[in-house]
Amino acid sequence: MENETVTSAPACAGLRIGDTPPDFEARSTIGPVKLSAYRGRWLILFSHPADFTPVCTTEFVELSKQAADFAKRDCELMALSVDSLFSHFAWLRLIKERFDIEVRFPIVEDPTLVIGSAFGMVAPNDNDSATVRTTFFIDPEGVIRAMTCYPANVGRSIPEMLRTLDALQAIDKKDGLAPANWQVGDALLRSPTQDLDEVYKAADETEWFLREMPKGKRK
Ligand code: BEZ
Repeated sequence: MENETVTSAPACAGLRIGDTPPDFEARSTIGPVKLSAYRGRWLILFSHPADFTPVCTTEFVELSKQAADFAKRDCELMALSVDSLFSHFAWLRLIKERFDIEVRFPIVEDPTLVIGSAFGMVAPNDNDSATVRTTFFIDPEGVIRAMTCYPANVGRSIPEMLRTLDALQAIDKKDGLAPANWQVGDALLRSPTQDLDEVYKAADETEWFLREMPKGKRK
């Protein structure tokens, strides 16, 4: 899969954390886009089931309201669905009229499902061709670092998308681990020791494997 340009792919080929997804070029609402052109920045690539649907509309309104928060983190957004470019335009026009919000991140058209299938965004046994709500967090080297998959009837949490991005960026910077409910400013954890002497010397029974990093320091 590495660095291939998508031409055709089996439905729901499935990508995993650590994979470099196949490159693609496609039409989008901001003009042609190429996945590999996003190298050097973080990218959140996400699919939505269909334009002109209620949950998707709320996601696009909220993502657009918080677009500057992603930009501050050097992270671009890119959406994708099976709808045509002109459907995307009509939906964005409606969102502007109704909510006074301009969606400025690209929405890719994927009417042949070639991209959605290669990325595992299309449920293989579904009767309809809609993509599920898949979200890929892709790092500046072009590697998938996290992914989520929500059903059509549950909208994503934008604060959780930002928190995941913050956690990925923090663990890279500090070489630490982000614990449950971690938020910016909280301590990261250190990796467990691999030295038996440190295990025996630890202050208590958990300190050798469950220990905070000193703030502001690498491990
Ligand atoms: C929605 O975005 O509201 C939606 C999309 C597809 C199926 C069901 C709901």
